Amino acid sequence: MRKKIIAGNWKMNKTVSEAVDLASAIKRELADCSAVDVVLCPPFTAVKAVSDVVSETLITVGAQNMSSEENGAYTGEISHSMLKELFVRYVILGHSERREYYKETDFWINKKVKKALEKNLRPILCVGEKLEDREAGNTEKVVEVQVREGLKDVPADAYTELVIAYEPVWAIGTGKTATSEQAQEVHAFIRGIIKDMVGKEAADAVRIQYGGSMKPDNAAELLAQPDIDGGLIGGAALDAKSFAAIVKAAM
Ligand code: 13P
Repeated sequence: MRKKIIAGNWKMNKTVSEAVDLASAIKRELADCSAVDVVLCPPFTAVKAVSDVVSETLITVGAQNMSSEENGAYTGEISHSMLKELFVRYVILGHSERREYYKETDFWINKKVKKALEKNLRPILCVGEKLEDREAGNTEKVVEVQVREGLKDVPADAYTELVIAYEPVWAIGTGKTATSEQAQEVHAFIRGIIKDMVGKEAADAVRIQYGGSMKPDNAAELLAQPDIDGGLIGGAALDAKSFAAIVKAAM
């Protein structure tokens, strides 16, 4: 049985004081969330403040990116040790917005995934096709390359730690959710790739989240699919009641 994981990706939203308010409201809504892993991913500037708010709860904190390097002359970057000191447990890597706007490639994403695992941070590796890929019938091809390259040389025993997020780019922030059938199909496909790469045990253990306009009114149906193990939530994670409703749908 894979424990469901619901993560809120706050993207470039919330100042420190706004983040404290949102995290505090989520904490009030989710006094008992032991049945689900709940992760809040604020912007870097608010990580410490959010960590402090949730410190005595089961809610954990994630970052939205991380450098593949240890330290040194990398202006604007944030390292694993900086995050770990702030009690960060998860790190989103390879989000489509970073692939698209900051030209992150599978090679660098793979370096980050391996660095995170080496340092006991749990990567949430994002993959997903663009609208033109889907329309051209290339969804599986695109997703397969992202999965194989992003997880290259990751050992089988790491799959209990890492999380994959399937986020069809055309569904992000558009209000167009993949149907539960469309999502399930790609999730099962991804699990099949993992089985081929590292075996059935790892494939059965790895958690695969869906992301892309997941909301309280579509969460239950998506989360009921056999290969959908949680959600990576953007817009709806910025509202405590909506986010809590999605977490409750996963219970
Ligand atoms: P939305 O939920 O706003 O579509 O965003 C999804 C996402 O990109 C989460 O990482």
